[in-house]
Amino acid sequence: MVEEIRQYCPWSYLAGADTVISSISSFILAMMHYPEVQEKAYAELMDVIGPGRFPQFSDRESLPYIDAIMKESLRWQPVLPLGIGHSTTEDSEYEGCLIPKGSIVMANTWAILHNPEEYPDPDKFFPDRFMKDGKINSAVRDSSTASFGYGRRICPGRHFADNTLFMSVVSILYTYSIRPLTGPDGKPILKEVKMTSGSLSFPVPFDCQFEPHPSVIPLLRD
Ligand code: HEM
Repeated sequence: MVEEIRQYCPWSYLAGADTVISSISSFILAMMHYPEVQEKAYAELMDVIGPGRFPQFSDRESLPYIDAIMKESLRWQPVLPLGIGHSTTEDSEYEGCLIPKGSIVMANTWAILHNPEEYPDPDKFFPDRFMKDGKINSAVRDSSTASFGYGRRICPGRHFADNTLFMSVVSILYTYSIRPLTGPDGKPILKEVKMTSGSLSFPVPFDCQFEPHPSVIPLLRD
């Protein structure tokens, strides 16, 4: 066990820092482009928590739309669009095609999470695709079945990442409204959504403003 921890510790920092930053950045980018999603999430937060206190982990069960936003953030812009290469340990066959032992296999996570048969209009940030009758729809493939990798090498930090993402998303949405900057003509400056290339993908740096919700200002002063 100690040996396993030693082996994973430096890896965990490297694997856990940029990945979480990428997913939170994609979430912020989405909020700027889809104000109607922010409004719906804020309505859920006010309905379930109200204006008097900050969200807690115990609220999660009662916040399905926030859950759907997290699923959609990991789907819309997967952090590792081609996963991480896996090497086959024996000859294998897929749909009549031989995959010899020692081949490097890349999983096309991007294609899985942008398959229009499972996720219609896949480039749109639309958390409602994961919902039915006000609850998470278990018939829709959860994006975490692909965004955290596959098989024995699946991300060991996924539960930690999931909790970090929940607390970040819920705290940001409870506290702020995220808006684009406005130009001298008063119109919002909204640039096209662009991601960096490379195995780990981030939104290309973008400007936005965080405006505290009036209801949260007394809490921020306490
Ligand atoms: C949103 C955040 C994260 C995403 C999307 C993510 C995604 C992934 C993916 C796709 C892999 C490759 C899995 C495979 O080979 O199939 C991976 C591996 C890994 N992740 Fe994460 N990860 C995240 C956060 C974290 C965190 C917070 C930690 C640690 C605290 C972590 C630790 C690791 C480690 C150590 C590996 C290598 C596992 C191995 O090769 O056996 N990750 N992650």
